[in-house]
Amino acid sequence: MDGNMIVGITKETYPGERRVAMTPAAAAPLIKKNHQVLLESGAGTASGYLDEAYKEKGVELCSRADVFAKSDVVLQVRGLGANPEAGKPDLDSMRKDQILIGTFEPLTAFDEAKAVAGKGARQFALELVPRITRAQSMDVLSSMATIAGYKAVLMAAERLPRMFPMLMTAAGTITPAKAFVLGVGVAGLQAISTAKRLGAVVSANDIRPAVKEQVQSVGAKFVEVEMDAGAEDKGGYAKEMTEDFLRKQRELISNVIAESDVVITTAAIPGKKAPILVPEDAVKRMQPGSIIVDLAAERGGNCELTKSGEAVDVNGVTILGPENIPSSIPYHASQMFAKNVVTFLNNMLDKEGNLNLDMEDEIIRDTLICENGDVVHSRIREAMGLAPAAAQS
Ligand code: NAI
Repeated sequence: MDGNMIVGITKETYPGERRVAMTPAAAAPLIKKNHQVLLESGAGTASGYLDEAYKEKGVELCSRADVFAKSDVVLQVRGLGANPEAGKPDLDSMRKDQILIGTFEPLTAFDEAKAVAGKGARQFALELVPRITRAQSMDVLSSMATIAGYKAVLMAAERLPRMFPMLMTAAGTITPAKAFVLGVGVAGLQAISTAKRLGAVVSANDIRPAVKEQVQSVGAKFVEVEMDAGAEDKGGYAKEMTEDFLRKQRELISNVIAESDVVITTAAIPGKKAPILVPEDAVKRMQPGSIIVDLAAERGGNCELTKSGEAVDVNGVTILGPENIPSSIPYHASQMFAKNVVTFLNNMLDKEGNLNLDMEDEIIRDTLICENGDVVHSRIREAMGLAPAAAQS
């Protein structure tokens, strides 16, 4: 007989969070395989998935305490670490060897990782899913970045005193808006595509050499800054650049910024503060009415004047520092998250549907933060200043 695991989903408690880690459609295949799925009542309501819809698929509704007390595996969008204050009460409910899967900000939330380790739980951080082809369907960072890139353009369009497309009307010609996207990972590429769909003329810049072709293939102009072949690490992420390089980059892109109606910044280095690419003097050269949407706001911002969670006005230029954008499109954000998390969970099961944590599998090994009372992830231990864990050394 196929598996008999109990999977639980709690209602998100991070302030303003509207997503949920499981949708009715994503739960159905688990239940078909004889797993039990428990959901804290009302967990999906804010994202448009009502209790009834879960029940129809065979999900059992219960209290938060029961989710923790009964589940072998607890799924959360923002677990403790990614939910530093409101997530704390969950610590009292966690059980030894209980598997927790979600986002936990593992590269910075060290105290929280230690606290969860102290409970004996096994915590798997989806942020650490390796960027390999096999893991693409488990990659919540890509899913959420897709949403953020799309929404950033809509936020800019909504505030801009201009339209995006070129229009030839009886009242004259409307020139298209000029958009500049800084940092072309998943969010940046989606921002470029969305701005193009709305009719803007789009340029973009990134420091990873592979990006130029991607930018051109979606019909945008690549703004050339002397490329550095060493700017990309093994995982496909950007490396931290020297202050000298960043100064040169800022000089080269400042004219494009000055001429742009919309600047969308997404540049990030995993686990580090975001690089400053738009200094104050560049903002002051922009036309009044222009908009900067800084998607790196929560990581310190790519613009020197960004205030996270606020709209700042500088001589008529608006700088938006939106927080938790995926939560503002909760239906699809939850659909994508749930698909990712169920694929990740299925990868932990053997053919009979039983949990089988194969530490030879890099997807499992590289995402495990703690087990047996200790933080075991080598990169996190190193960042915490701890000696390598016995099992990993
Ligand atoms: P990210 O969110 O870490 O960073 C966003 C972008 O900022 C990156 O493109 C980065 O190169 C850029 N950046 C950093 N410093 C910069 C600077 N000083 N100036 C300009 N740009 C700067 O990256 P994201 O979106 O998570 O993706 C990183 C890469 O991983 C991409 O190539 C993406 O296509 C790849 N990827 C691969 C996957 C897979 O194979 N499974 C899944 C998802 C992404």
